[in-house]
Amino acid sequence: MRKQIAAANWKMNLSVSEAEILLDQLLASEHNLSANQEAIFAVPAIYIPLATQKLAGKNNVYVAAQNCHPKANGAYTGEISAPMFASVGVKHIVLGHSERREYFNESDAFLAEKTNAVLAIGSTPIFCCGEPLEIREAGTQNSFVEAQLKNSLFHLTADQITKVVIAYEPIWAIGTGKTASSEQAQEIHAYIRSVFATKYGQAIADQISILYGGSVKAANAKEIFSQPDVDGGLVGGASLIASEFAAIINALK
Ligand code: PGA
Repeated sequence: MRKQIAAANWKMNLSVSEAEILLDQLLASEHNLSANQEAIFAVPAIYIPLATQKLAGKNNVYVAAQNCHPKANGAYTGEISAPMFASVGVKHIVLGHSERREYFNESDAFLAEKTNAVLAIGSTPIFCCGEPLEIREAGTQNSFVEAQLKNSLFHLTADQITKVVIAYEPIWAIGTGKTASSEQAQEIHAYIRSVFATKYGQAIADQISILYGGSVKAANAKEIFSQPDVDGGLVGGASLIASEFAAIINALK
């Protein structure tokens, strides 16, 4: 059975005391994870030790990084490498978020290098893809997303691709309050799975968790997650409110 995942992306938000309060509230909230479900917290890098300590001993709960550099070490001032994250217990790294692609000019080729770096140390890339509004309006979202996946991931072996989590995030739905309808989400998630099935075979494609991101909230999570090819969500704004994110965890299949 594919993993069902609720991933919080805190982005560049919260002071350390606010982060601590949010984690305490989450710990106090009612949320239950079954064996095939995971909750992942992509917190600002500086809060990783705090979050790791707070969430220690919680089954199927992980602290993640929001980005990494493809090199293991060297003269890259201000950057943090995948092995450094692994050394503090991080097992998941978000790659290619649309904000990084847009504001930091991250290319498909650079993201392929980062993916290799994360897989090389046995961690899980949460690889983001998704189209901007003009592509959606032109109706060419499938080929746009397919190119992102091909350019950054198709050099991987079948064994490696099963270790990647995909997050489909239509840029027009991120932080805008607009959400893809559950039909729109299902349609493109099924397409993404078919892209992997064509390259790696259906049995491999069926093992890949594909998360939906873009204004997921407690109020819409259940309906979006109920779609057959949606395996959870990558959640920005609503992950900063404990009651919202706890409800999103509870909406997992
Ligand atoms: P949002 O962000 O939930 O605030 O739309 C999602 C994301 O960017 O991961």
